Amino acid sequence: MKILVTGGLGFIGSHTVVELQNEGFEVVIIDNLSNSSEEVLKGIVAITGKTPVFEKLDLREKTSVQDFFKRHTDVASIIHFAASKAVGESVEKPLLYYENNINTLIYLLQELEQKPEAHFIFSSSCTVYGQAETMPINENAPIKPAMSPYGNTKQIGEEIITDVAKVSNINAILLRYFNPIGSHPSAEIGELPIGVPQNLVPFITQTAIGLRKELSVYGGDYPTNDGTCIRDYIHVVDLAKAHVVALQRLLNCQNVDKIETFNLGTGTGSSVLEVINAFEKVSEQKLAYKIVDRREGDITSAFANTDKASNILGWKTQSTLEEAIASAWKWEQKVRNV
Ligand code: UD1
Repeated sequence: MKILVTGGLGFIGSHTVVELQNEGFEVVIIDNLSNSSEEVLKGIVAITGKTPVFEKLDLREKTSVQDFFKRHTDVASIIHFAASKAVGESVEKPLLYYENNINTLIYLLQELEQKPEAHFIFSSSCTVYGQAETMPINENAPIKPAMSPYGNTKQIGEEIITDVAKVSNINAILLRYFNPIGSHPSAEIGELPIGVPQNLVPFITQTAIGLRKELSVYGGDYPTNDGTCIRDYIHVVDLAKAHVVALQRLLNCQNVDKIETFNLGTGTGSSVLEVINAFEKVSEQKLAYKIVDRREGDITSAFANTDKASNILGWKTQSTLEEAIASAWKWEQKVRNV
């Protein structure tokens, strides 16, 4: 079975390609290398012993997308990761985000709707819930107005897929990720942010390795146990496996609705200080950090109710926070040749 993975050389995409290949799927990757590198292919091959087909292609070029599907007539299942994901950048460059995240989605769906049967898995985000009223967050929590163009592209993306699936042969699963961290335990692939990391865990590991002076903890006065924000940090390998399970559900026609939505998290919230403590424990070193003002747009707390994913997909996370952080640290050390 041939599966198209867009953004398959990126952080979550590459880990999902590994899990797909381990399960015997034939993978075709499209990636424009805007936030990834062809080197990632070597890591995928080192882990799985199999080389996926790779095409450097920019999904914003509609004719290139059409041409791809003319050459790969047997592709009717897509896991769609390719998108821009920096919240701050999306505020500065909204049109870039609407073009990257929405136009590309439309071009893919235009191809899929021509198939007699098609499957689509979409990378969505818990950001669609904003600051939810109740914790943990289940899939029926209200969708809040997006706080950034990035968040808006996830909401609009979900709506577009839902509208199209209703009137076509496309069956879709929307996966709302909480906070993916970590790397493959082999350290052959991992997260490699370009420039200064915006996300917590890569900033921690880059600080510990000496690339950054100290971590700024954004806000110490939130209404939480220790005053810092709470998130649900999920190991990227667990997250990748959820994509395989979701795909199999669609391929085996086990889905109850044409569009289904699942939260993907661990179900446990951790504060920023708890993440720092976990890092200090696994790395056996102190981390330089200071508490500074809150970051604009941050919510106080978000962690997942995992009942639906567990009961319907039969999927649960396996890794602990410490294991996830240890894998991120191992990767950082490998990348910097330490
Ligand atoms: C954000 C987005 C999410 C997106 C994800 C990946 C929102 C609400 N969430 O998640 O949609 O999918 O990025 O790009 O826009 N922190 C620090 N110091 C740092 C960095 C982060 O203290 O240097 C804190 C933050 O305040 C937050 C936590 O660490 O409490 C996690 O931050 P981050 O990794 O950026 O993820 P989110 O903001 O949760």
